[in-house]
Amino acid sequence: MVKERSGVEKIAPYQAAKSLESIKREYGLPEIIKLAGNENRLGCSSKVANILSDQHSQLSFYPDSNCTALRETLSEIHKVEPEQLIFGNGSFELIALIAHSYLEEGEESLIPYPTFGWYQNVTLQMNATPVMVPLKDFAIDLDVVFQQISDKTKIIWICNPNNPTGTILSEEALKTFLKKVPKSILIVLDEAYIDFVEGEYFNTIELMKANENVILLRTFSKIYGLASFRIGYGIGNVSLIQRINKVRSPINVSLIAQQAALLSLEDQAFKQKVLDNNRKSLDLYYLTLDALGLQYIRSHGNFILFQAGVEGDKAESLFLEKGIIIRNGSEFGLNGFIRVSVGTYEENEKVLEILKEITQKSHNQEE
Ligand SMILES: Cc1ncc(COP(=O)(O)O)c(C=O)c1O
Repeated sequence: MVKERSGVEKIAPYQAAKSLESIKREYGLPEIIKLAGNENRLGCSSKVANILSDQHSQLSFYPDSNCTALRETLSEIHKVEPEQLIFGNGSFELIALIAHSYLEEGEESLIPYPTFGWYQNVTLQMNATPVMVPLKDFAIDLDVVFQQISDKTKIIWICNPNNPTGTILSEEALKTFLKKVPKSILIVLDEAYIDFVEGEYFNTIELMKANENVILLRTFSKIYGLASFRIGYGIGNVSLIQRINKVRSPINVSLIAQQAALLSLEDQAFKQKVLDNNRKSLDLYYLTLDALGLQYIRSHGNFILFQAGVEGDKAESLFLEKGIIIRNGSEFGLNGFIRVSVGTYEENEKVLEILKEITQKSHNQEE
């Protein structure tokens, strides 16, 4: 048998999620509502609907490997040089490219945990060591992260807002942390959910400009609802971006993904609709969860983590029986919690109705 690289050996095989079709068949359900992947339940901008026919004559060509039009538009929006941007097949790809260009065997990645699982996977791919740093009260505590820095630390992965807890870091905490951390350590700020943060939140791009060892990651998968197109981007200083570019496959973002991203940026009304729905939906969750006496974490993303009143496994199957897929918190070491993506307002009402039934039943059983 051909032996795999030792880093790869340590990675648990990927557990593919069941297809929606197979779940429908298994549970005899006509419809399924998927609230497990933090996707956008309002869809995406209607402006992208005609891309295939509009671009028909271009489809047999390789796309622009530089994503020039999108690069120019985003450099204006974010007030950065075009060379400070790198595009990826979703931020999943960018996370892997960062690990591939920076992590050496034996070095360490610091990962505040629970968080997005891919940081750990890419660290192992490089035969480096993931060092998991526990959250404090469901939030990243940068003082604790700082204490874990060793001479082997190469990358610190910070998911802000953090998936699955939805918490955000304050400007002061981040600035103080960045001042203290040696510049030889790369700080990845994964901002997949940053567009959902409401109110006055500070400009992390300025933070990146002031710190040469910081890269920001953004995605079109969440607020713009383009998850199926696979497009995300990084913003960092030019030499950092150039290094990551060396390991990027030259043609990694399709023409239709580039076009969809450009068109989505033009549709601010859709973005506002998504934000309005998110705010109203989270408020409904807070109100109902308070009434049910279930613990939850106030979220700055398009998802919410809360206690289900029963074990996570049980909650997962009870929701599935009703045709709703949610995420069991046990996957993140948070047993008894579930993470539910914000749905349409009616979908959220349905989730909360089921939750009421679950809690009433488990209450009655206790009596
Ligand atoms: C924190 C975080 N980063 C990155 C991603 C991947 O996003 P993309 O669709 O851009 O690959 C996700 C997806 O859920 C995520 O939650």
